[in-house]
Parts: sequence; C-alpha cells; structure tokens
Amino acid sequence: MQKLILPNIPGLHTIDVYESQGGYKAFRKALGMKPEEVTDEVKKSGLRGRGGACFPTGLKWTFMPKQTTKPKYICVNGDESEPGTFKDRQIFEFNPHLLIEGTLIGAYAMGVTTSFIYVRGEYGKWIRLLEKAIADAYAKGYIGTSILGSTFSTNIVVHKGAGAYICGEESSLMNSIEGMRGYPRVRPPFPAQFGLWGCPTTINNVETMCNVPLIIDHGWEWYSKIGAPKHPGPILVGISGHVNKPGVYELPTGVPLLEIIYKHAGGVPGDKKIKAVIPGGSSTMIMRGDQLEGACMDAESLKAAGSSVGTAGLIVMDEDTDLMKVIARISMFYYHESCGQCTPCREGTGWLWKILKRFEKGEGRAGDVDLLMDIANNIEGNTICALGDAAAWPVQSMIRRFRDEFEKRVKTVPPRMEQEAAA
Ligand SMILES: Cc1cc2nc3c(=O)[nH]c(=O)nc-3n(C[C@H](O)[C@H](O)[C@H](O)COP(=O)(O)O)c2cc1C
Repeated sequence: MQKLILPNIPGLHTIDVYESQGGYKAFRKALGMKPEEVTDEVKKSGLRGRGGACFPTGLKWTFMPKQTTKPKYICVNGDESEPGTFKDRQIFEFNPHLLIEGTLIGAYAMGVTTSFIYVRGEYGKWIRLLEKAIADAYAKGYIGTSILGSTFSTNIVVHKGAGAYICGEESSLMNSIEGMRGYPRVRPPFPAQFGLWGCPTTINNVETMCNVPLIIDHGWEWYSKIGAPKHPGPILVGISGHVNKPGVYELPTGVPLLEIIYKHAGGVPGDKKIKAVIPGGSSTMIMRGDQLEGACMDAESLKAAGSSVGTAGLIVMDEDTDLMKVIARISMFYYHESCGQCTPCREGTGWLWKILKRFEKGEGRAGDVDLLMDIANNIEGNTICALGDAAAWPVQSMIRRFRDEFEKRVKTVPPRMEQEAAA
C-alpha cells in the first residue's frame, strides 16, 4: 500500500517540501466547502479514532453545537503514554504539517477558535519540531487571522504534558490544559457541551487528525475502500517485543496480525514460537500465540478475537517469556499511574500489583487467582474514567487465557509450615 501518513519523502517535515507534495491543498479545498459538508465527508469516510476507542470521528464532530456564543476548542491528543505505543511521535518528526492541516480542517468544520495540541512532556525533541512547523504555518498564513484571504481565523497552541499517563484521558487532559490537577471529570456533561473552560470541545488523537486531509483531498469513497470496510484507512502499527524488526509500520486496517509479525516485522528472533501478543497497547486484552490465525488489525476482527485495536501498539512475546513478570510489570504501571480519585482504582490497582508480585516470585497462594479476578471485576466499570478498565483487562484476560501459568506459580507449602521446617 502507498504510504499516506508517513510517506518516505526526504524533508517532508519542512513546509516547502510539504507544499511541493500537495500539502495544504485539502485545507484550501475545505475552505471552499460549507463546514457541515466537511464534517459530512469525514462521517461518510468511516474514519474511526486512532486514540484507543475507535470512536467514529465524523459523528463526534457532529456533537459540537452550531449555535453557541461560546468559543469552541479542539484538543489534539498527543500524550501517547500507553505502554507499547510510539506512533504519534513519528508524525511529529516526519509529517507534522499533515497533523496541522488535519487540525485546521477540523477547526474549520467545527468553527473552532483555538486548537491545543497536547504532547507528552518527555517528547522534548518532538515538541520543538512541532512548534517549528506551527511557526512556519503561521508565517505562510495557514494559521492566524483571515486565513488565505477567507473570513476564517483560528489558532494552534502546543501544550506540554508533565509525565502523567492519566492526562491522556480526554477529561483530565482538559483539566491539565486549564492548569488544574489531571483528574478525570464525571460525564455527562460531555466535552462537546462542557469542555475546556466550560466551552464546546472536541478531542481527537494525533493520527486521527492526519487522516482528515486524505479524506478531503481524495473524497470519502476513495478513503472508505482502504482496509477493513467497517474500520477503514491506513493505520500506524507500532510493533515491539520479540520481533526482528520492531518499529512503526503504516498498513491498511484489517491486516492480519501474523502478516504484521512475520512479513513486516521480520518474524521472531531465533524462530521461536509466539507465546502471547498484546495487540493494541498494554491495556488491551492479551491473546494466545496459538490463537492468532485469522485475527486482523481492525475493530471488528479483534473484538471477535476477544481483544481490541486500542492504539495498534502490538507487543509480541516469544515462548520463553515469563508472563507473570509481564503482568506484574503492567499492573505496576497502572498502580503508579492511577490518579487516586476513585477508590476501586486507587486501592484495587495496588492490590493487583501486590498479588501479582507474589506470582512473579513463585509465591502465589491458593485462592489468589480468584481473588485477582474478583478485584479486577470490581474495578472494571466502576471508575470515572477508563484507566480502571485499562488496569483490569490485562489481568482478566491473562487469567482467562493463561490460567495454567498462574497455577504453576502457586506455592503449595504454606509459608508458616516452611518456616517451621527451616527452624
Ligand atoms: C487512561 C487513559 C489514557 C489515554 N491516553 C491517550 C493518549 O495518550 N492519546 C490518545 O489519543 N488517547 C488517549 N486516551 C483516549 C482519550 O480519552 C480519547 O478517547 C481520545 O484521545 C479520542 O481521540 P480519537 O477519537 O481520535 O481516538 C486515553 C484514555 C484513557 C482512559
């Protein structure tokens, strides 16, 4: 497939090369359309968000009120803190103007006065590259007042995060931009009604926005024919773990996971068998290596396989992987990143980690597996934001699919008897 989001064109990150390749043409075209026509085009294309939940983008845009006296905002989510996910930074580095162009088209379609691009604070190099690209777009008149001689004016601001995974969650992201603690907000009201500073706001992932110029440029019909019919378009798959060629691959949605691993990422080192994969970043349900046949990188296929696309951050684990170590490490992450606002998540993530550490050391206790499942089930769905679910799903799926691995690590001799024997 021709690369659309990350084409290998030297110097594409500069505005001159980007323009020479037809850059900002889609934005000019959009300015000649009615705003609702632009939204309609995105809606018909079938584009679904690339930030984790696969929510239909055009539909989300229609939630923004048309008649309002308040300013409207876009937050472009580049917090990219989900373990296994490293695709948005490729866009900041190699094609930042595509992101800017997509954001501008979205701003025009929704009548937005300011867009904030929220980038994780650790991305110093990428923040600088993005800021340079935005400055160049201002200088060429694509951003600012009366853009390209039209009546449309809008601004783009880069906002740096400060190292908290929770700030990638859309409502904490808005609190963070407002200068408050990154606590998720209770919904409703939803951001389109009550977002940044109480004004209508739409939140979209960086990669999602990069698809918009492609749709406007080539038309929704063309776009909807790429990849999986119900989840179309190009997708950036970040593959890591036990593969010969880890990296970010731009592929059509619907590509088989085995094709990604063996054809694109060069297979598993030492030709070892695959024990497990996590298909879409650490919060998505783990899958068994012997059940990958037929599973493809699109929402329908991975749902049927008992997992999800998430951020398409595919983590591959070979037959020698210690899955107890893996799940204990993942749980530590969620425990560390829980904001502490909701009791089930604040307490439960710590309990999960504490018990999983026992399994890691081969000191699981009889009843611990059921206890883990019970705790995970009590976190899932009982928190303000989906961080709780993100902490529960890996544990639940690991137990469902690799129960034997847990059972092998249960210490059968009660610790007190062992102490007595040693005395
Ligand atoms: C704990 C948590 C962290 C998240 N982190 C990110 C992130 O880093 N980037 C992102 O785009 N979405 C992240 N999301 C999802 C966002 O809340 C939101 O759904 C997304 O940015 C919407 O964009 P999309 O519709 O284009 O996918 C996170 C969600 C949760 C619950």
